[in-house]
Amino acid sequence: MRDAYIVTAIRTPGCRRNKGALADTRPEALLSFILDKAVSMTNGLAKKDVEDIMVGCSFPEAEQGLNVGRICSQIAGFPKETTGATVNRFCASGLEAIVEASMRVMVGFSECTIGAGLESMTFVPMGGNLPRPYPDWTKNHPDMYVSMGITAENVATRYNVSRQDQDEFAYQSHMKAAVARDNGKFIEVIPTPATKFVEQADGTFKKETFIQSVDDGIRDTTTIEGLASLRPVFSATGSVTAGNSSQTTDGAAASIIMSGDMVKKLGVKPLARLVSYATVGCEPDEMGIGPALAIPKALAKAGLKVEDIGLYEINEAFASQALYCMRELGLDKPGQVEKINIHGGAIALGHPLGCTGAKLAATLLNNMRTKGVKYGVESMCIGGGMGAAAVFELVE
Ligand SMILES: CC(C)(COP(=O)(O)OP(=O)(O)OC[C@H]1O[C@@H](n2cnc3c(N)ncnc32)[C@H](O)[C@@H]1OP(=O)(O)O)[C@@H](O)C(=O)NCCC(=O)NCCS
Repeated sequence: MRDAYIVTAIRTPGCRRNKGALADTRPEALLSFILDKAVSMTNGLAKKDVEDIMVGCSFPEAEQGLNVGRICSQIAGFPKETTGATVNRFCASGLEAIVEASMRVMVGFSECTIGAGLESMTFVPMGGNLPRPYPDWTKNHPDMYVSMGITAENVATRYNVSRQDQDEFAYQSHMKAAVARDNGKFIEVIPTPATKFVEQADGTFKKETFIQSVDDGIRDTTTIEGLASLRPVFSATGSVTAGNSSQTTDGAAASIIMSGDMVKKLGVKPLARLVSYATVGCEPDEMGIGPALAIPKALAKAGLKVEDIGLYEINEAFASQALYCMRELGLDKPGQVEKINIHGGAIALGHPLGCTGAKLAATLLNNMRTKGVKYGVESMCIGGGMGAAAVFELVE
């Protein structure tokens, strides 16, 4: 099998659902912008060289519906010959898109592909506009459709993750993100054109464009006391709050993937190659444990151990599940814990569902390059009861 090289990995800022800077920007605009930018940032690459674009999206309907992968390939100015598809594995959709796009290169079907992710949680709410659970199944299996927040409560209760630990973890997420932002560490973030509607003197609204450069969910003012004062959101007696949950967010991300032949032809320097990928199922009502199962499986396939990994991006869907997974994997210990989400995670930076897998890949791979880290792991839990994990190797 051939290697698949990721040569460019970028993202838009992640901005708060409804209240944030991208709330009036259509998802097609975000995705087509980041696809266009990924190509123009890759030396010598022309749009006609990209054979297929796989786009992860968790709720591919309404404005991000039909086949948003194909639609945005055309909006972004790829030739009609460049195809596009939409991939859904909920919170792992963006990673799944990168892996599927890589596999096409690995088996020799394509020389150059894009793996991307998109979610505007403002335009399409989590759960979709018209959820229709299958009644014959829900009678005996309501868990498949349970709120993600309840699954986070279940993990906290079943595995004894305290409120205090969740709030401390959330606090650290915001602090790490604020430091990273202030020190220009988010090199994977591309200033992105955004839309706003500005009220005019006559009461009408004028559409204007501005550039959004930063993730706007980071709360520098977060304190442990402030977090401790928040009421639980999903269960009156629970411990999961707006402060220790991932934020609902809008964003897009993209990675350019190539064969070794194409890398040589263009003379580009790849960031990393995909080493292994694993998905594992678990009980839907505790879907947050997914990374604790998927990471060992992906590592075993790669012939690596937890300690061999220099950086981890473990999606912070909820502090309870992230903490449980770190504990299970021995990643909560000194010497390991410093490798996890070094610039903060979804509690501070947001979790734009279908985009997240592609967003975290952009963060991880650029951090691996900056720090000279040989192996990195990206992982997340997935609604419906699954975990996904991928191992990447830096190309020196
Ligand atoms: C938990 C959840 C319902 C909260 O939604 P929300 O009310 O829109 O959340 P917000 O981020 O706007 O926070 C609400 C309030 O909580 C308080 N708050 C949030 N984070 C805080 C922090 N770090 N410190 C202090 N207060 C905080 C603030 O008062 C905030 O209001 P403000 O924005 O006006 O200041 C939502 O974030 C959610 O559903 N998260 C999980 C998403 C999910 O399930 N994803 C899939 C995972 S598998």
